[in-house]
Formats: sequence, structure tokens, C-alpha cells
Amino acid sequence: MVESFTAVEIISVKRDRQELSDSQIDWVINAYVRGVVADEQMSALLMTILLNGMNSRELSRWTDAMIKSGERMNWSALDRPTVDKHSTGGVGDKITLPLAPLVAACGAAVPQLSGRGLGHTGGTLDKMESIPGWRASLTNPEMLKALQDCGAVICAAGSGLAPADKKLYALRDVTGTVPSIPLIASSIMSKKIAEGTSALVLDVKTGNGAFMSEPEDARRLANAMVELGKRAGVTTRALVTAMDVPLGLTAGNALEVRESLEVLAGGGPADVVELTILLAQEMLDAAGVSGKDPESALKNGSAMDHWRRMVRAQGGDPNAALPIAREKKLITAEESGVISSMNALQVGISVWRLGAGRERQGEKVQAGAGIEIHAKPGSQVNKGDPIFTLHTDEAARFERAEAALSGAVVIGTSPVERLPLVVTKIV
Ligand code: URA
Repeated sequence: MVESFTAVEIISVKRDRQELSDSQIDWVINAYVRGVVADEQMSALLMTILLNGMNSRELSRWTDAMIKSGERMNWSALDRPTVDKHSTGGVGDKITLPLAPLVAACGAAVPQLSGRGLGHTGGTLDKMESIPGWRASLTNPEMLKALQDCGAVICAAGSGLAPADKKLYALRDVTGTVPSIPLIASSIMSKKIAEGTSALVLDVKTGNGAFMSEPEDARRLANAMVELGKRAGVTTRALVTAMDVPLGLTAGNALEVRESLEVLAGGGPADVVELTILLAQEMLDAAGVSGKDPESALKNGSAMDHWRRMVRAQGGDPNAALPIAREKKLITAEESGVISSMNALQVGISVWRLGAGRERQGEKVQAGAGIEIHAKPGSQVNKGDPIFTLHTDEAARFERAEAALSGAVVIGTSPVERLPLVVTKIV
């Protein structure tokens, strides 16, 4: 086959801060998936994009080329509108677990293709896999059946969905090219658009525990993704939400499932409940479903019924006891006062070191590992009061996990200003 371009030509365009043409973008993504563009060449191109950016035409074409590298799913056989939510990742962010069955209980279908933990942030599939018997991999017909029967499905993306992203993401992970707004936006949106949802709500996290720690960067990322979604015909909106403090009172796989069950039973921590309801309202509105009240679906048990059906449909036993870590360690307040801050990133790193996340790709995670939080910013504590309980199967992990928490909790006389739960909304 005669190639239309060379990788060096294309790298030079972006190196010299020029625009890539549509045909150059189509070629480079396709040629990379075919193995004609080598990893070292794509790494150089990704770095030029990280440094020099892409305009909105380039970004839209780049995202389209990634979508076209694989299949595009279709849910037109369903009798309900489809809507999905995507979070850019945070610490203790278990919202998908109560949210998907909640939105299903209110009449929309939720085809959730989720991921595994990335760095200090947890992954929905790792959390769901702590439920005995539950399996993440479904074929497309199995996914359709689960959506028809339960209204919601949470599963892994198959290898046919945006394969360009799988290759590019793995390369970005090892070449320092993850934190680029166009690269993150195209990576997330190529998968979400290929997933075939007709509406999408993005939860873009900001604060020290998020990939975009500055609210202004998070807003730019949210804008870029909303524009990509709209261009592709998906009703898309975004909430930029706080990730300066962990969400809820748990971080870690089975611990987060337990907390999600509390929310589905009508209880749970106020911030998790508030964000779940807000996102459910946005999703139902984006899907054109009116007259449903997510708050009452949590209180009257219908969201819990959908959860149980959804777990069973994927081989899980909703009545089975969740795994518990073998070892526990209590961390207490070093002084009396009011907790003025709790660093989400440090808590996330500690949870990761306890065994809830991976050191290397493909590693098994510990289902029971994680942190329970006993007091959050604004709480008055006395010296010796419990702040965290660390959970792990291997006591040898406590030392490094505790080291990660050094200085994570500041106790003073008054709470410092926190980010509001919803920082901005983009429609
Ligand atoms: N999640 C993704 O899927 N891609 C990114 O680039 C970052 C977070």
C-alpha cells in the first residue's frame, strides 16, 4: 500500500505550530493502529500536541478518527432513551454505582462502559468486581439484553470500541502525555460517542485529587468535551465538581460498594447523595425524561430493585457478603480542633498503596483494601479521636500507606474555604 504521508512530515507540522489537515489526522490515527506509525513517532506527535495544542477542527477530526478505528454501538432496539455519565476520576467517587440503577428506575436506559483504576483514582469495574460472582465482560447482545431487562448495565468496553484509544492511552501513560486537554477530551469522548448513547452527562472533577486540579483547566476540558459531544449529535452537558476532599466516607473497592448500598437504601453520606441526585436529574433531563423524582426512587426502594437486577444479570449475588480486608489500622487526631482540610490526592495515594489500586497494568487489586473516613473537614475533633481506618490484606503495606497521609489532614481553629460541590455547569 502506498502511504499518503510520512509520520515525520506530520510530527513536523505540529512541532512548527501549524495545523494538521483532516487527511493528515485520518492517516496518522489509522496508520498508528495498523502499526505503520511507530510508538516513538506517535510519542513525539503526542508531545507536540501536549505542548502546542489543537484547534477545535483538529480536535473534532482527531476524535472522529479514533471513533472510526472501531465499531459504533447502537441501542435503537430499546424502547427507552439512552443516557450515560462519565466522571474524569477522583477519590471515593463511587457515584456510578447508585446512579446507573437510579436513572434506570426513573425510566432511561444507562449503557455504562467503565474503566479500571488509574493511578490514585479508583475504577468502577474494580469496585463492581468486589461483588462475588459479578463479571465485567459482556458481548454486545448480552449488553442489549441487560439493558432491556434491567435498564442499566455497567461493563468493560470490548476490544472493538475505539481501539486507537487503547493504544494511544497506553502510550500516553508511559510518555508523560496524559495531562493534555485535547488528548483527554478525545480519549474520553471517542469512547463515549462510540458507545452509542444519545445523551451524556460529564462529571469533570477539579481540586487536588483530580487530573485537572485547577478549576479553570477543568472548565476548559469540560467545554471541549461538550463541544465534541454536540458535534457528534449526542446531547451533552457537564458539571465541574469538587475533588479537593474525598467523596463520601470511603475510598477502596468493596468499601465503596458498601457505601453505595447505603445510598440505594435511602441513607449514605450527604455529599454522595447530593451528587447522585444532581447527576440523575441532569441525565433524565438530557434524555428528555420528565416527571420523575430521583430522590423518591432512592427512598422507595425502586433504585435498589434495579441494582439487584443489574448485579444478578451479570452473575453477581446481591445478597453475598462483601469481602473484608484481613488487617485494620486506626489513625487518630494528633491534636484537638476543627478539621480544616483533607487532601484527596494523599488519601487516594494511600488507598492505592493499601492494595486497592495497581502498581502495574494487569495486576490484581485487593477487594477489601481502602480507607474509611471518620471525620471530614468542618468536624470538631479531640486529640485521639478516630480520623481514618486503613484496611488491607497485608500489614506490611501500612507503613507506606500511612506515610502518604502525612500532613493530609490539617486541624486548626476554623474550616478553610472549600470548593462548592458543583463549581460550574456547562450546557
Ligand atoms: N480517562 C480517559 O479515558 N482518558 C484520558 O485521557 C483520561 C482519563
